[in-house]
Amino acid sequence: MRIILFGPPGVGKGTQAQALAEKFNLVRLSTGDLLREEISLSSPIGRKVEQFLRKGHLVPDDIMLEIIDNILIENKDRDLLFDGFPRNLNQAHSLERSLAQMEQGISIAFEMHLEEDELVKRLMNRRYCPRCERIYNLITNPPKKDGVCDDDGVKLVTREDDTAEVIKKRLKIYEDETRPLVNYYKLLNVYKQIDARGNQDEVLNRITEIVNAYLNSKCTSN
Ligand code: AP5
Ligand code: MG
Repeated sequence: MRIILFGPPGVGKGTQAQALAEKFNLVRLSTGDLLREEISLSSPIGRKVEQFLRKGHLVPDDIMLEIIDNILIENKDRDLLFDGFPRNLNQAHSLERSLAQMEQGISIAFEMHLEEDELVKRLMNRRYCPRCERIYNLITNPPKKDGVCDDDGVKLVTREDDTAEVIKKRLKIYEDETRPLVNYYKLLNVYKQIDARGNQDEVLNRITEIVNAYLNSKCTSN
C-alpha cells in the first residue's frame, strides 16, 4: 500500500502521518522532516536546501527526486506513507514512473482540507521536538510539562518557517503548485478529500475508515 497525504501547511499532515504510520505499520516519508534533519546535521544537502525552507519556497525538484528515489529503493517491499510529497505535477509524474518500475502504484491520495484562518491558527501555535519530531500545539495538544517533549524531555522549538510572512507565502505556493494534484489524482481514481476540522482523533477516524475500506477491497479481490 502506498498512501499520499497532501494539503496546505498546518492542515495536520504530519500529525496524521505519525498516527497512521503506527496504526498501519507504514514507513513514513515526511519530506519536510527529512530536509530539516539534513539542515540540523549541516550535511551537503542540508546546506543546499536551508534557504528554501527558511523562505517557504519549494526545494528544487532534482534534489527532492534524488532523495525520494533512494528511499523508494531502500523500502521497496514496505508499505509507504508520503507526507508532503509530491508537491507539484512534476514530482507526481516522477513518483508514478519510479513506482511503475517496481510494478507499483498509488493506492490512495488524501487531500486534507481546512479553512485558511484555522490553518494559520494551528501553525502559529505549533511547537515540535527537534529530536523525535513529535508535533505539539500550545492550544489543542500541549506538552504535559511546559516547553519540553513528553517522550524525551528535549526542549521544544518553533519552526523557522512558522512566521506570519512565510506562512502566507507557503499558502500561496500550495495554491499555485500543489493544488493541481487534486485533478491529477482524480484522473488516476485514487483521490479522496478529507475534512480536517475537529480534533486529531476525529480526523484520524475519517482517514482510517477509507484505508480500511481499501484494504477490505484488496482482500475480496484476491
Ligand atoms: P513541510 O514540513 O512538509 O511543511 P508544510 O507542508 O508547510 O506543512 P506543515 O508541516 O507546516 O503542516 P502539517 O500539515 O504537517 O501540519 P502539522 O501536523 O504539523 O515542508 C516544509 C518545507 O520543506 C517546504 O516549505 C519546502 O521548502 C520543503 N519541502 C518539503 N517537501 C518538499 C517537496 N516535496 N518538494 C519541495 N520542497 C519540499 O499540524 C500543524 C499544527 O496543528 C500542529 O501544532 C498540530 O499539533 C496542530 N493540529 C494538527 N491536527 C490538528 C487538529 N485536528 N486539531 C487541532 N490542531 C491540530
Ligand atoms: Mg508537516
